[in-house]
Amino acid sequence: MKVSIIGGAGRVGADAAYALQLGGLVRDIAIVDMNRDMADGEALDLRHGAALTDGTRIFSGGYEVVDGSDCVVITAGLRRKPDESRLELINRNVGLFKSILGSLKECELKPDTTILVVSNPVDILTYLAVKSEILPPNQVFGLGTVLDTCRFRSLLGAHFNVGAQHVHALILGEHGDSMVPIWSSATISGVPLSSIPGFSQDQAHEIFEQTKKAGAEVIRLKGGAGRAVGVSIMAVVHALFLDRGTILPISTYQNGTLGIEDVCLSMPTKIGRRGVIRVLEPVTNFIEQEGLQMSAESLKKVIEQVGV
Ligand code: 2OP
Repeated sequence: MKVSIIGGAGRVGADAAYALQLGGLVRDIAIVDMNRDMADGEALDLRHGAALTDGTRIFSGGYEVVDGSDCVVITAGLRRKPDESRLELINRNVGLFKSILGSLKECELKPDTTILVVSNPVDILTYLAVKSEILPPNQVFGLGTVLDTCRFRSLLGAHFNVGAQHVHALILGEHGDSMVPIWSSATISGVPLSSIPGFSQDQAHEIFEQTKKAGAEVIRLKGGAGRAVGVSIMAVVHALFLDRGTILPISTYQNGTLGIEDVCLSMPTKIGRRGVIRVLEPVTNFIEQEGLQMSAESLKKVIEQVGV
């Protein structure tokens, strides 16, 4: 499997390349970045580890190295300037993203190539990529709340002092302020969290708040997130490659699940070699369902403002 990472010399892209190299399933990783020296440097640094990491082939270059990719991961994005509003940043990132899509349209992609959007605002840019019709809609999706769900599970695992891989709890909706915790179906190996003695509403609220603010906290402490984003990207790429019907909360174009349509956000989604197989309707209570519909409305407002 060949994966190209557009923006692969940035923090997120480089961590994704490293996670994929350690993951050992991907055969080729191509790194493309506006900063060519950084892209060449990241590829060289990763290649130096080939002898101990199953020999993934890693290279860098212009868009010509994207040809023949099975999956194109887009992590390129501009950082918010100190006095910049979120909408101003979105407008700048939409401009950059449109130029990336234009370059990708010139590449020799395969009929079953998939595009995984990571750049923020990921749900808006995923919608833009789907509407560009560069590939069929099932082959274009975003990382969405895969990262938030990973953080949520990890924080819950730490709280209950259990392995986070045994915590099954979803964050759905927007990868952003309107994300929704799905407490009603959250369990630890099948044991509902709500039935665990001593787990209070306040504790639940605190853990969700930590999840929602996790990205900003990592930015405050180390300048930007990359590690958990990288393993989240690896999880999606491996789900594509293994083609075993893995279900992950990626951001996809919605066609009516819970009455939500014509927007991209995260719902439990069955993933195969060619991307989205099916969106699954999550079990939600009224509050969660209302939260998801509010998430959709919030995203639609931004789509309208940006004129995607
Ligand atoms: C995050 O939540 C970068 O959006 C990413 O950390």
